[in-house]
Amino acid sequence: MPRPFTVLAPMQEVTDLPFWRTLAQCGGGADLAITEYFRVHIHSTLEKHILASILRNPTGRPVIAQLIGQDAGEMRRTAGELLNYEEVAGIDINLGCPAPVVCSKQAGGGLLRDRNKIDDLLGHLREVCGSRWFTVKTRVGFASESEFEELLAVFSRHQIDMLSVHGRTVKERYQTPVHTGAVRRAVEALSCPVVANGNVVDVATGRAYLEKTGAAGLMVGRGAIRNPWIFSQLRQSFAGEEVAEVRKRDLLRYLTLLWEETARARLEFKKDFDPGKHVQKMKRYLNYVVSGLGEDLEYRMKRCREQGELFALLRDHLDNEELMPALPPERSKLFCGFSRLLE
Ligand SMILES: Cc1cc2nc3c(=O)[nH]c(=O)nc-3n(C[C@H](O)[C@H](O)[C@H](O)COP(=O)(O)O)c2cc1C
Repeated sequence: MPRPFTVLAPMQEVTDLPFWRTLAQCGGGADLAITEYFRVHIHSTLEKHILASILRNPTGRPVIAQLIGQDAGEMRRTAGELLNYEEVAGIDINLGCPAPVVCSKQAGGGLLRDRNKIDDLLGHLREVCGSRWFTVKTRVGFASESEFEELLAVFSRHQIDMLSVHGRTVKERYQTPVHTGAVRRAVEALSCPVVANGNVVDVATGRAYLEKTGAAGLMVGRGAIRNPWIFSQLRQSFAGEEVAEVRKRDLLRYLTLLWEETARARLEFKKDFDPGKHVQKMKRYLNYVVSGLGEDLEYRMKRCREQGELFALLRDHLDNEELMPALPPERSKLFCGFSRLLE
């Protein structure tokens, strides 16, 4: 891994094979990717479309498979099944998902309430991973940042290869500034590379997060849906090169590619394709992209029902040489609290 390195954050139903294919054509994507999570329980089997994203990984860069679950035996079984594939660079455990249905089963972020259980799971997964990477993605506590010291003590007992820290508690979900002090404490306490995550929306916020924490890398999620070139821009900035600007016409090309790749995957994995339903799927990404590109576009995009109507609207607003705004609006529910990184 270069230093600092970049990681594409795992995002369920977003960071799938078509999204990776699109990123590969828009700046090349991150230095490392983590899959959306494989659910692990007594009846679970490897979800085909997630496995396909690993086996056909178009990025040429390593991919780590993420697991969410709480039963040590089932986690060992699933990790073992995945490690049968040489394309799996390692296994990551999700200690951050805030969804109530996940937390109530003591999985994801819910596990942060039970440090003994985490200790046990990390021991098992470290053993199964052998010489392959074993990584952890965590938040800074369940209800309070003050829990993080004891969590770090648990992490430091295991030879983990990378700790990604989403700098919020589970209760804070996605809408607060990040606790940079906690990420810095992780960097100081652990010998493995620590990756800072949460609220990186452009080069300036990324660099500020690194400066405040001393982290070895940056993980970007929503900022990469909004601007897939964020990884190549960060790499340019780390290398001291001029950072290439993104124009609205680039966004139009990105959205066209994303439509094509997601439609192709739909046909391949589900054997059906309904352009109307696909417009709704595209809105999951578009919400992040159009935020801040004008109220008219945001308003009309939400009402689009057909492919022709959607792309006519996008061409109307994006088929020009204007620069995309450096930052998204902070009022939005989608991006919130990032300006604190710049203080
Ligand atoms: C739509 C969506 C899906 C997510 N799915 C996952 C997931 O499967 N596994 C995980 O560890 N985190 C998941 N996350 C959390 C992100 O990986 C990341 O930690 C969080 O969005 C903060 O980073 P960001 O501000 O760069 O987006 C998800 C986030 C979003 C917005």
